[in-house]
Amino acid sequence: MGFDKKYYTAAENELNGIRLKNSRILSARERETDEKFPEVGKIRRELAGTTSKLLRIIADRDHDIKEQLSVLERENLQLQDRLKETLVRCGLPSNYLDPIYDCALCRDTGVSDGKLCACFKEKVKKAAAAELSSSSPMQLCGFDTFDLTYYDDTEATPLGATARKIMARNLSFCEEYAGNFRLPYESLLMRGKTGLGKTHLSLSIAKAVTEKGYSVIYGSAPDLLRRIEKEHFGNAADDTDTLELLTSTDLLVLDDLGAEFESKFYVSAFYNIINDRMNRSLPTVISTNLDLAEMEKRYGERISSRISTMKMLMFVGSDVRFLKKRRQS
Ligand SMILES: Nc1ncnc2c1ncn2[C@@H]1O[C@H](COP(=O)(O)OP(=O)(O)OP(=O)(O)O)[C@@H](O)[C@H]1O
Ligand SMILES: [Mg+2]
Ligand SMILES: [Zn+2]
Repeated sequence: MGFDKKYYTAAENELNGIRLKNSRILSARERETDEKFPEVGKIRRELAGTTSKLLRIIADRDHDIKEQLSVLERENLQLQDRLKETLVRCGLPSNYLDPIYDCALCRDTGVSDGKLCACFKEKVKKAAAAELSSSSPMQLCGFDTFDLTYYDDTEATPLGATARKIMARNLSFCEEYAGNFRLPYESLLMRGKTGLGKTHLSLSIAKAVTEKGYSVIYGSAPDLLRRIEKEHFGNAADDTDTLELLTSTDLLVLDDLGAEFESKFYVSAFYNIINDRMNRSLPTVISTNLDLAEMEKRYGERISSRISTMKMLMFVGSDVRFLKKRRQS
């Protein structure tokens, strides 16, 4: 994974926080049981005693260390069994005084099987995704502020139903999409003219899925593609591999596709993103002003055939930016 060092540091700090949190919980349990159940406290002290015996055995080299160690080990195991029995007798779970881990695989060390643990990689990814999306107005948009009265409910659109009906369907689709988010998951294509709420709903999805704990990157196509270009030509400010981030994040929300400059480099970067994500069964939410023919002309068949497998939402109505201004004046 090519991520800037600062994201590894952020993940380390998060792990430190988790270890601290869990050790505090454990200490509180130890204090609680020592107070309420003196027999538990006694066994705990005996167990602590075996540790200092161990140190003494290691320091004292004259004796047969192996023999002494196995005696000590037996003693230690018996004490642990007694502790568990006693806890159960006191009405507590037998593992009440065991070390507590958020991740059983790496025991919150970040390393399992000699490799970075999946939980650690997930933390690095989330830290990087959070920073990449930090300049976006994700916090300003939500499903609850999506106002359907901006869409006409009197005339049928070329799609059949009224604009309000279609947009109400889009809204509830997006809410359910975010609410049921899981991996693998389907991708979405939001299409329609300017000012119809594509960015509003894609930000709302990004926000809701982030709150569910997934790594989400929201960004506009011009912005993200420019970053990739800079990194490719060696003009980047840090070591982050944006292309790798965009292909591996749980959800990518790529806004304003088609607003970037026309360039072969962008087309091939976009192809890599779409293709890699589809191969990994990771969902992408794309919004664009382009229609399907324009997309095919601009990005070619290989991309448009992949995009055509996405669930499509048509945005209809009149420019809400304009209507909002009129309502305010
Ligand atoms: N249904 C709505 N209720 C409330 N505000 C809305 C609604 N739809 C759009 N808006 C607001 O109107 C402005 C324009 O909407 P938005 O940016 O989502 O449009 P868009 O479809 O992404 O347009 P473009 O194609 O130009 O990017 C934003 O400030 C957005 O929050
Ligand atoms: Mg937009
Ligand atoms: Zn782990």
